[in-house]
Amino acid sequence: MSGAKKLWGGRFSGETDPLMEAFNESIHFDRRMHAADIRGSQAYARALQKQGILTEGEQQALDRGLTAVLDEWQAGTFELRPGDEDIHTANERRLGEIVGEVAGKLHTGRSRNDQVATDMRLWLRDEVQRLLGYLRELVAALVQRAEHDIDVLMPGYTHLQRAQPIRWSHLLLSYAFWFQQDAQRLEQFLPRVSQLPLGSGALAGNPFQVDREWLAQELGFASVTPNSLYGTSDRDFVAEFLFHSSMTMIHISRLAEDLIIYSTAEFGFVQLADAYSTGSSLMPQKKNPDSLELLRGKCGRVFGGMSGFMMTYKALPSTYNKDMQEDKEPMFDAVDTLSGSLQIATAVIATLKINADKMKASLTADMLATDLAEYLVRKGVPFRQTHHISGAAVKMAEVRGGQISDLSVADLKTLHPSFDEDVKLIFNFETSVNNRSSIGGTSRATVEAQIDMLKKWLA
Ligand code: ARG
Repeated sequence: MSGAKKLWGGRFSGETDPLMEAFNESIHFDRRMHAADIRGSQAYARALQKQGILTEGEQQALDRGLTAVLDEWQAGTFELRPGDEDIHTANERRLGEIVGEVAGKLHTGRSRNDQVATDMRLWLRDEVQRLLGYLRELVAALVQRAEHDIDVLMPGYTHLQRAQPIRWSHLLLSYAFWFQQDAQRLEQFLPRVSQLPLGSGALAGNPFQVDREWLAQELGFASVTPNSLYGTSDRDFVAEFLFHSSMTMIHISRLAEDLIIYSTAEFGFVQLADAYSTGSSLMPQKKNPDSLELLRGKCGRVFGGMSGFMMTYKALPSTYNKDMQEDKEPMFDAVDTLSGSLQIATAVIATLKINADKMKASLTADMLATDLAEYLVRKGVPFRQTHHISGAAVKMAEVRGGQISDLSVADLKTLHPSFDEDVKLIFNFETSVNNRSSIGGTSRATVEAQIDMLKKWLA
C-alpha cells in the first residue's frame, strides 16, 4: 500500500516493502486490546470536548461510532484491511469509515505512544482482577481439602528423604499460603499498573490542557503518570507483572512436582482424576499425570517471557522506541498461561484422590528419633546430648534389625538413666504431630488455625 494512504503517510512517497509490512504489524496480537483501545478513545473524546476541541455533537458522533466499532469486534465482523498496522490504526480507520471526517479529530494531541501505554495498562489491570479471582479459587480448593483431610498423616520430607510426620493438610496449606502471597503481591501491583499515561502525547505532554485527572477517574485509574516522558517510556508494569507471573508459576511447578512424585506407584499417596490424566499410545497400563507435568513445565515459558522482555527493555533510549512493541506478546502469554494453569491446578486439587492408608503406612518409627531426643530434653538433658543418645538408639535398633520403638525401656536406660516407662508414649505419630503446636506447626490446633486464617482472608 502506498505511503500516502497510511495514517502516518504524509511525508512518505515510497512503498513499504511487503516484508516490512508483515514485520512491522502488531495487529495479529494487539487486537486483543480492542475494547481497551475503544474505551480509552471514548474517554479521550470527552476530554477533548471538555476543552472545546470537539463540539458536543462531534463527541457524540465519535462515541456512537466507537461503540459501533466495538460491536463489530464483539460480533466477530470487524474486517481487517491491509495497512491496519496495529489495533490503534485499525480502530481509527474503521471509525472514519463509519462516522466520516470527524474521526480525524479524535487523535488531536494524542499519540499512539500514550495510547498504547494506556491500552496496555487498562487491559492488564482488568486481567489482573480476573487472575486474582483464580488465585483465590485455588486457595479455596486447597483450604477445603485441608479441612476435609485434616486427620491424614504422612511423612514430611527434606532432601526428599523421610524426615518427620506431618499432616497432609499442613502440606496443602503451605501451598495455599504461597498463593495467598502471590495474590497479595498482585493486589499491591494494582496501584502501579493503574497509572494513566493518556495525555502525555508523543512524549512531551498534551498541548490542549486535557484534564488528565478527569480522564483517570473516567477510566478507573488510581493516578496519572506524573511525567510525560516516563508515561510514554515506562513498561515497568509489564516487567513487574511478568515477575509476579513467574513467581506464581514457580509455586505451581513445585506443587505439581510434589503431586507427581506422590502419584508414582512407588509412593501411591495420591491418584489424579481421569479428567486430568492421559494414557500412553503404546503401554496400555499407563496413566500419566500430564496436567501436572504441564503445570510444572509451563513455568519455563513465563520466566522466558520475562527474561526476553527485560533484555528488550534494557538500554532503550528515552522515550518510545519500536522495540517496545515486543512487550505485548510475553504479557499476553503470561496472562494466558497463568490463567490456564491456575484453573487446572484448582481442578486437579479439587478432584484428587488420596490414599490415606498408604501415607500412614509410610510412617516409620525412625521418623520419631527427634521426638525421642526431645523426650530427654523435657527431662533436662541438653539437646546436643539427646541428639547423640537418640542416634545411638537408632543404631542399636538397626543392628538388631528392628525399629527404635521396639527397644525396651531397659535397652534405652543403658543409653541414658533418664529414660522411663513414659518413653513408650512418644512412639505415636499423632502425638508427634500434635506436639508441634507453636504457631505454624503441624498440630491439629495449629493447622486448624491456618485454615481459619485463610478462610477469613477468602471471605
Ligand atoms: N503498535 C505499536 C506498539 O505496539 C503502537 C505504538 C506505535 N508508536 C509509534 N510511534 N510507532 O508499540
